[in-house]
Amino acid sequence: MRVLLVTGKGGVGKTTVSAATALRAADMGYRALVMSTDPAHSLADAFGRELGDRPTIITENLSAQQIDSQKRLEESWGEVRDHLTELFDWTGLKGVQAEELTVFPGMDELFALADVREHVRSEEFDVIVVDCAPTAETLRLLSLPEVLSWYMERIFPMGRRVAKVVRPVLNKVTSMPIADDGVFEAASNFYDRLDGIREILADEEVTTARLVLNPEKMVIAEARRTYTYLGLFGYAVDGVVVNRVLPDSVTDPYFKRWREIQQDHLAAIEDGFVDVDILKLRLFDHEMVGMEMLRLLADELYGDRDPVERMNGGRAFTITNDGDDVIVEMKMPFAEKGDVGVLRQDDELYITVGAYKRSLVLPDSLKRRVVKRAKLDAGVLRVTFVLEN
Ligand SMILES: Nc1ncnc2c1ncn2[C@@H]1O[C@H](COP(=O)(O)OP(=O)(O)OP(=O)(O)O)[C@@H](O)[C@H]1O
Ligand SMILES: [Mg+2]
Repeated sequence: MRVLLVTGKGGVGKTTVSAATALRAADMGYRALVMSTDPAHSLADAFGRELGDRPTIITENLSAQQIDSQKRLEESWGEVRDHLTELFDWTGLKGVQAEELTVFPGMDELFALADVREHVRSEEFDVIVVDCAPTAETLRLLSLPEVLSWYMERIFPMGRRVAKVVRPVLNKVTSMPIADDGVFEAASNFYDRLDGIREILADEEVTTARLVLNPEKMVIAEARRTYTYLGLFGYAVDGVVVNRVLPDSVTDPYFKRWREIQQDHLAAIEDGFVDVDILKLRLFDHEMVGMEMLRLLADELYGDRDPVERMNGGRAFTITNDGDDVIVEMKMPFAEKGDVGVLRQDDELYITVGAYKRSLVLPDSLKRRVVKRAKLDAGVLRVTFVLEN
C-alpha cells in the first residue's frame, strides 16, 4: 500500500503530475486512485471527463475522485457548525462573517485525508495519489491531525463535563447558547474520522511526498521551506519534480537567457534537497490534458522507473530537542570523512563536507539559536543549536 502526496506552489503542475503518476501506475498493473479536493475540478480537466465525489473509474485499474468538501463538511461538521453560528450570533457577530468563522481554513482538505484513511483501510487500491492544495494549506493541514487530537483529547471531555453542570445554571441566568449532547456527539464523530490519519501519513513505508516545482526563484524558495517543514513534522519526501524545464531543442535567442537562468536554478535545486531524487520534466509545446498527453508526460517523467516504488530520500533529517538545545541530524550517506564546514546565514544552513555541498532552510523556531557544534559520524551530520546568550 502506498500513498503519494503531491504538493507544490500554485500552478506548478501538481494536478498534471498527480494524474500522470496515477495513470502510469495503473498502466503498470497497480490498482490506482487519484484524488483531490480542488473545487475548480482541475483533475476532471486533466482527464478530460467528469468526476464524481466517489471514486469514478477512468480506465482499467484507474479511478479518480474529486471530493465535494462542502458536502463532507455538512455531513460531519453540520451540527457543530450550527452551534457555533448560534454562539457567534449571540456575541453579535452575524451573517456571513460568523458563518466563515465556523469553518477553519484547510478543513475541506481534512476530509480528503479522512477519505485517504478509508481507502487505505478498505485495501481496494495499491496506490493512492493525493493531488494536494498549494503548499501553505497542505502544511497547515498535515499538522492538523496532531493539533486537533491534542485539543480533542483535552478540551472536549472537559467541555462536556462542564456543559453538563453549567448548562442548567447558565440557562437561567443568560441566553448564551450552550452546546447540547448532539453537538459533542458530532464533534467526537468528526474527531473519529481523523483518528489514525497521522499514523498512515507519518509511516514512510506507506506515505511519501513529492514536491513539484518550476525552475524559478520564488517557487524553489517555497518548495525548500515546505521540505523543511515536512521534515519537521515527520513526513518523508522521496522526490522532487522540476517541471517546465526549457528543452535543449529551444534555440530561439529570446529564450537563451531563460535557459541560463534555469540552469543556475537547477544547480541550486540539486544542493537544496538532501539526497532526494530529482526528476526533470520539460515544458511541452501544448497543455498536457487528456489520456494521451498524460501518458506522454509520465513516460518522460519516470522513464523506466516505477512511480509507485519509493524513490531516494525519505526522512533525510530530523529535528529534536535535547534539553534547551536543538539537534538537527542530517543523513549525508555519500559524504567522505573530512572537514565539515557549517555556515549559518539567516534561515539557511550551508554544509560542506569535502566536495559535497548541501543547504537546508531552517524552521522559524531555530531563528533565535546559534550553531554550537557540528559533527559527522557514520554518514550522519549532527548540528547542535543553542540559545543565544
Ligand atoms: N510540463 C508542462 N508542459 C506544458 N504544460 C504543462 C506542463 N505541466 C503542466 N502544464 C499545464 O499547466 C497547467 C497548470 O497545471 P496544473 O493544473 O497541473 O497545475 P497545479 O499545480 O495543479 O495548479 P493549481 O495550484 O491551480 O492546482 C495545465 O493546463 C497543464 O496542462
Ligand atoms: Mg491543481
